[in-house]
Amino acid sequence: MVLIDFSGEEHIKMKTKALYAGSFDPITNGHINIIERASKMYDSLTVAVVVNPNKKCFFTVDERVEIARKVTEYMPNVEVDSFSGLLANYVNENDFSVVVRGLRATMDFENEIQMAQMNASLYINDTETVFLMTDPQYSYISSSMIKEVASLGGRIDGFIPDYAKQKIHEKLQSGGKYNE
Ligand code: COA
Repeated sequence: MVLIDFSGEEHIKMKTKALYAGSFDPITNGHINIIERASKMYDSLTVAVVVNPNKKCFFTVDERVEIARKVTEYMPNVEVDSFSGLLANYVNENDFSVVVRGLRATMDFENEIQMAQMNASLYINDTETVFLMTDPQYSYISSSMIKEVASLGGRIDGFIPDYAKQKIHEKLQSGGKYNE
């Protein structure tokens, strides 16, 4: 896009590439809410599944990516990827100008500000962390809580896309264990 300033000079406006990273084990409606809103704010949004060796996940990385792809396919400027290692390295290698984070409650804030500040010191370019307030109806859910409720026979409708719900049930029925 070409922008013309007050003096008539033309500037090329770079497209804004945003990143939303997380474990997505699996993706929930709280995440979808953040993705829908962020995808309207930026030219493109990459949802990146993080391979975190410190977190025992229920779904494999490939499964988490497949679920996230399926449930976001209706958003044309959203793509799903995965990475391992430092988020800042992934940001630098892919020239993201914005990293989106969702804030559910004050309990998220301290951890998030610490991460954002540490990451900021590692970014090569002027990447900004942008926080979106999670819709109140999702402020108390997490992927772990949904898996726990499902594994104990509770209803998880409304908290998670139908496809992800189906995948949780299939995995539990085929012997998958949720035991965090
Ligand atoms: N709605 C519903 N649930 C939400 C949510 C929302 N809007 N936002 C977050 N959650 C849930 C997640 O499902 C997750 O649940 P779980 O713990 O039961 O799995 C929980 O809240 C925490 O989410 P988040 O803070 O996004 O953690 P995460 O593990 O999904 O992602 C990373 C954290 C991957 C972004 C971070 O660990 C990272 O950057 N890792 C890479 C290594 C690195 O760079 N480390 C240095 C950081 S300074």
